[in-house]
Amino acid sequence: MLSVFSCKHNPQEDITPDLTNNYTNDSVSFQTEILPLLTGNCAMTGCHDAATAAEGVVLDNYNNVINTGDVTAFNTSNSDLYVVLLETDPKKRMPPPPAPPLTANQIALIAKWINQGARNTNIMRCDTNTFTFGAVQTIVNNLCIGCHSNSNPQGGINLSNYTNIKQETQSGKLLGSINHLLGISPMPKGGNKLEPCKITIIQKWADTGYLNN
Ligand code: HEC
Repeated sequence: MLSVFSCKHNPQEDITPDLTNNYTNDSVSFQTEILPLLTGNCAMTGCHDAATAAEGVVLDNYNNVINTGDVTAFNTSNSDLYVVLLETDPKKRMPPPPAPPLTANQIALIAKWINQGARNTNIMRCDTNTFTFGAVQTIVNNLCIGCHSNSNPQGGINLSNYTNIKQETQSGKLLGSINHLLGISPMPKGGNKLEPCKITIIQKWADTGYLNN
């Protein structure tokens, strides 16, 4: 299923993290934009988490993404991590069905990151003044939908549309899970706790009446 990954194996490279402030407004942030996408859609149990490591691919941190995803800076067509996203053959496409493919915007963001040099950037970009449903859905789509979509509603929780997101937020479960409240499974499962700013956006959206805006 993941044969594309297994055709070529770079020797493990010693990658020096590039967590400098050397970026522009246009720079893609690996830690806050790319890694959450990968942990939410690829690094789950049974797939590309460290324990499963399907086809030797582990997408849970920068070095593993570069090495096991065969990422070549400035070269998307030589980066297996990217190539498999575009596969039209469902047997080769990642994430595999029944999971939905990444959206065009998400794929474009990964391409942009590779074309900017696939650096280990860590840029905080989160505006708590924008707490529309659109902002909430972007967070959920990037961090949760891989396990909570129509086709893959883990824990019986489906977060693929307004009605469901509103329902899970009104019940207190969604905010409880991302705030790691006692008695509720901490989310995103297996990932880092959300940045406070993202939690604030969802909290403000709830406090102002769950508008569908
Ligand atoms: C890697 C897969 C995965 C990701 C990513 C993920 N979840 Fe979950 N989620 C699960 C599983 C599995 C369960 C069932 C409970 C468990 O096994 O911990 C669950 C349960 C839940 C529950 C019910 C918790 C309870 O105790 O009743 C909520 C709410 C939830 N997830 C919200 C989210 C939100 C919000 C995000 C994104 C910020 C997210 N999840 C990301 C896998 C995931």
